[in-house]
Amino acid sequence: MQSEISSHQPIGAFDSGVGGLSVLRAIRELLPHEHVLYLADQAHIPYGPRQKAHIRDFSFGITDFLLGHGAKLIVVACNTASAAALHDLRVRYPEVPFVGMEPAVKPAAAVTHSGRVGVLATPTTFSGDLYAALVDRFAKGIEIFQSTCPGLVEEIERGDLESPAIRAILEGVLSPMLAEGVDTVVLGCTHYPFVIPVIQAITGPEVRTIDPAPAIARQTQRLLAEHAWLNPVKVAGELQFFTSGPPAGLEGLLPRLLGETGKVSGLAWQSQGLAKINGG
Ligand code: DGL
Repeated sequence: MQSEISSHQPIGAFDSGVGGLSVLRAIRELLPHEHVLYLADQAHIPYGPRQKAHIRDFSFGITDFLLGHGAKLIVVACNTASAAALHDLRVRYPEVPFVGMEPAVKPAAAVTHSGRVGVLATPTTFSGDLYAALVDRFAKGIEIFQSTCPGLVEEIERGDLESPAIRAILEGVLSPMLAEGVDTVVLGCTHYPFVIPVIQAITGPEVRTIDPAPAIARQTQRLLAEHAWLNPVKVAGELQFFTSGPPAGLEGLLPRLLGETGKVSGLAWQSQGLAKINGG
């Protein structure tokens, strides 16, 4: 399926919801000429508390859909799906380049002065082998304080990024970390960069938050360049959005979260995978 790739084909990116838009934002900045297909699996959000095998099956179905619509490379713009499925995706589609997310433990360990780092991510991300390997490899001599931020993903999906509920969740999570002397906070879920202003208001400017999105965009650029798949056409790339939830909800959030508008097509999960609905 991937043998006849042309550089004009789109990048595919997916997340359980709007979180991957924080990655898409960085990709748009670095690679403005690339066409992108973005798929939000909002029928299944949140992924965080779900079983790994289910998240892996969703990731397979989404990847089939994106490849079927011409994706030349897939960005797994979701830490949880990366933790649950990235390895299996690479095995199942050996000819497809994947870019995955991992909590930025290594950069955090490099910049912390206090040697105390907070990591915010979902339960599946924390329980995966990927995270254990990162901590094992890069967090020697560093103390890590973890939180799964219960309810935060759902609140961010509502789109009111400075709501009292978001502030309350983050205060509950960050205050104990600050009391422990944490000076660096890793955003290990792609939803969380949208609430950086609230996080910084709580932590103050001395605490650094690490958003991995720019590094993911650079990795995407590197892989495309390696394959000679960077789009040579120098006009703005087109964005196409898909969701397995209500299209109007995602469409309404795009200007605020991405700073762009776009048409969203509705999808439905069927026994053979994802299919378009409403003629979308
Ligand atoms: N945005 C996803 C991540 O990066 C998780 C959200 C969810 O729990 O669905 O982990």
